[in-house]
Amino acid sequence: MLTLGIETSCDETAAAVLRETTVLANVVSSQIALHEKYGGVVPELASREHLRNLMPVVREALDRAGVTIKDINLVAVTSAPGLIGALLVGVSAAKAMAYSLGIPFIGVHHGEAHILAAHLEYPCLGYPYIALLASGGHTALYHVREFGSYRLLGQTRDDAAGEAFDKVAKLLDLPYPGGPVIDRLAQEGDQQAVHFPRGQREGHDFSFSGLKTAVRNHVALFRSKDAGLDRSLKVKDIAASFQAAAVDMLVEKTIKAATEYGVAAVVVAGGVAANSSLRKEMRQACEKAGLTLTLPGMDLCVDNAAMVALAGYLHYQRGDRSNLDLNPTASATL
Ligand code: KG4
Ligand code: ZN
Repeated sequence: MLTLGIETSCDETAAAVLRETTVLANVVSSQIALHEKYGGVVPELASREHLRNLMPVVREALDRAGVTIKDINLVAVTSAPGLIGALLVGVSAAKAMAYSLGIPFIGVHHGEAHILAAHLEYPCLGYPYIALLASGGHTALYHVREFGSYRLLGQTRDDAAGEAFDKVAKLLDLPYPGGPVIDRLAQEGDQQAVHFPRGQREGHDFSFSGLKTAVRNHVALFRSKDAGLDRSLKVKDIAASFQAAAVDMLVEKTIKAATEYGVAAVVVAGGVAANSSLRKEMRQACEKAGLTLTLPGMDLCVDNAAMVALAGYLHYQRGDRSNLDLNPTASATL
């Protein structure tokens, strides 16, 4: 059973081939270079770039997997949430392939795919667990009781964690996307240089806008006062201090949810799960709390199509199918 996965929800054009749950090929073509000069993703440019790149990326995935399109038994595609024009490219291509090949296709929720990415590398990963999904568009905690059962415990009331990294990078005149850049700079900075507020919302909800504003105020202050000081040093310290605060907030809420719901395992998913400090701090906190932590490898944390193919395959096994009249949706809760 071969599944072709397609992902075009934001700024990565991706295709993957799975044999059951084994990844045969996982190809990602990033549009970062295209959007970088605008400081963020330009939706219309993203759609056009997906249109140009999707078929070459699919061909590359098939080649690497050593199969042809005629061998594919199922097409899985991210159908929500995301940029509507970008989603439309992937969904239209998936429908056309499924229709012309006479095979089923399945529209997949992007957040579910992120969470399930952990199962690709750790097939023995069992349920239940608490999943922290932290990406550019989402920050949420789920109680995952079994495949397909995601109880939303809490989510961000304002910015997503990745969005906060990207916005803080912009404040510091760093390139897009900010997450990886801040991660790298923070390693050379002093995380205790500035104590930014860990403004937490009640329950299991998050809030990152207060932290972002605190960074903005601090940047304005040091720009006016410290023009003569070594700027690069300051930027590294601010990056490290901001990251420490963001990571603290994510770790604290995740451990609290796991303890409250009495689960023994934690999964961290989404682009922000690639953050080296989050990985380290979450590992330590889980160890201390007696929780098993599963972290997908970096390439499976950020957007990719292997996670989409897996989500589609698991739904297919359960008997789920999408109809050809399925339309992509920009926002959809899991
Ligand atoms: O999951 P993803 O690839 O796309 C979405 O579904 O949004 O996540 C992208 C987000 C961006 O905001 C990016 O800055 C952030 O993940 N990100 C990181 C790191 N790598 C990517 N944030 C912090 N540290 C990183 N190393
Ligand atoms: Zn994503």
